Amino acid sequence: MRDGEQTPGVSLTYEGKLTLARQLDKLGVNVIEAGFPVSSKGEFESVRRIAREGLTSKICGLSRIVRADIDRCLEAEVSLVHIFVSTSDIQIAHTIKKSHDEIVTTAADSVRYIKDHGVPCLFSAMDATRTAPEFLRKIFGAVQEAGCDIINIPDTVGVAVPSAFYSLVKEICDSTKGMTVDVHCHNDFGLAVANSLSAVEAGAREVQVTVNGLGERAGNANLAETVMGLQSLFGAQTTIKTEYLVETAKLVERLTEVKIPLTAPVVGENAFSHESGIHSHGVIENSKTFEPGVMTPEMVGHRRRIVLGKHTGKHAVKQVLEAIGYEPNDEQLHEILHRIKAIGDKGKQISDIDVQAIADAVVGEVAKGRQAIILKEFAVMTGNMLTSTATVKANVRGEEKVLANIGVGPVDAAVKAVRGLLGDDTSIKLRDFRIEAISGGSDALAEVIIGVEDDRGKRVSARSAREDIVMASVEALVSAINRLILLEENGR
Ligand code: KIV
Ligand code: ZN
Repeated sequence: MRDGEQTPGVSLTYEGKLTLARQLDKLGVNVIEAGFPVSSKGEFESVRRIAREGLTSKICGLSRIVRADIDRCLEAEVSLVHIFVSTSDIQIAHTIKKSHDEIVTTAADSVRYIKDHGVPCLFSAMDATRTAPEFLRKIFGAVQEAGCDIINIPDTVGVAVPSAFYSLVKEICDSTKGMTVDVHCHNDFGLAVANSLSAVEAGAREVQVTVNGLGERAGNANLAETVMGLQSLFGAQTTIKTEYLVETAKLVERLTEVKIPLTAPVVGENAFSHESGIHSHGVIENSKTFEPGVMTPEMVGHRRRIVLGKHTGKHAVKQVLEAIGYEPNDEQLHEILHRIKAIGDKGKQISDIDVQAIADAVVGEVAKGRQAIILKEFAVMTGNMLTSTATVKANVRGEEKVLANIGVGPVDAAVKAVRGLLGDDTSIKLRDFRIEAISGGSDALAEVIIGVEDDRGKRVSARSAREDIVMASVEALVSAINRLILLEENGR
C-alpha cells in the first residue's frame, strides 16, 4: 500500500486505505505496509486505524533510521517497523551525506531501539543493487547482529536483471544464514516480476509487491503476476487466496483511478479472451490448447471470453450465439459470420449488443426453450388516476406466476411487475429505455429499446416494435432480461 500510494498522481483517502487493507487481508497477504506514519497526521491516523482493525495480516509502518520516525511507527501500533537507509554511493553522496560507519552504526542502533520496544524489525538497504557488495554484506551483518528479523534487498531503480539478482540474493542469503530475506523490485525495465521470481529461486522467502504493479515511476512487482508465477510456474506456496486477485485488482483500479490495461496478465480484461478462429476453436475443445493450463480464469476470479471479430471462426460464433439463446442453422451461421467479419474489416469492435442485433436480424428471437421468462398474459389499467397498475402472468423457469405492481405510469408499472417475477432481490437494473416511432399517425408502430445491467456491470439490450407502446416495452424488457440470464448461466 505504501509504495503503491507513491504512484505519481495517486493518493488514497482514509476510508480508501481502510477498504483496501480489509481487501488485502481477505486476499491473504502476510504483511500490509500501511504507510509512512511520520509523513503526515492523516497518514499516521490511517496507519493506526488499520493497525487497530484486528486483521490477520501484520501491519507494517515505514521509517527512516531516525528516532522520530520510529517513534511515530510505534505510536501507530504497527506490528512490524520497516526501516530503510540508502547504501549506494550515489544516493549517500547526494542525499544523506554520511559516512559508511555512521550509517552502519545508526542502522544497528535503530534495530536495537525497535527490538527494545518488543516490535519486530525489517531493514532495507535502499538501492542495494547499486551498492558495493562489501558494504552491503557489512550493513546486513550489523543489523543481523543487532537482532533484526528480516532483511530486504531493494532494486530501487529497477536496474537488476534476473541472473545477476539471483546471484546477489544467493550471496546475501549465504552471508546472513538464518535470516529471512525479502526483496523489493521496481519495474523500470519491466523486470520486477522476473527479478522477484529469481530472488525466490535464490532463497528469498518474502517478496514485496503492489496491486496492479503501482508504485514510484514504473511501479513495483505486480502482486497478481508474482503470486501466479510463484504458484503456477514454480510450484511455490503462498498464503494468497488467488480467487480474489481480480476482485482486488478492480478495487484498486476504482480507488486509484489508474486503469488496468486490457492486456495486463492475470487480471486484464483480455487475460483469458480469445478472438482468432484457430485459438477460439481450440479453447472451445480444450482450454489448455491456447491457455497456460496451470493458470485458469477460475483460479484468479476471472472468466474466459470468446470475442468476435474479423479473425473469428464459425465454432466461436456458434458458441457465443448459443450462450445468448440463438440456435442458428448452418446457413444462418454463415451469414452471421459474414456480417461480423464485415464489421471487423472496417476496423470496428464488435460488442455483444452488435452480435445480438445481427442474430436478431438473421435468426429472429431467442429460442423459446431457453428463455427464463415466457410471457403469457398481460394487462395494464391506467387513466387520470394517481397510479397505473400492471398485471403480468408468465412462466418463470417452468413455474406459472402472476404478479401485479403499480407505477407512476403504465410503462413504469409494467416494468416493475416484470422485474417482480424474478423476486424482490433481483440484481437486474434497467439502464436504458428509448421509444422511437417507426411510422406516423396515432396507430404508429413504436419501437422500444431497453437496456438492462446485472451487478457485474454486464449490459444487454433488446428491442420490440408494436402499435401498443406498453406491450412493446414489456416484450423488450422480458427479452433483455432473458438474454442477461442466459449470459450469466453461460458464464459470459
Ligand atoms: O524502492 C525502495 O527502495 C523502497 C524502500 C523504502 C524499500 O521503497
Ligand atoms: Zn520502492
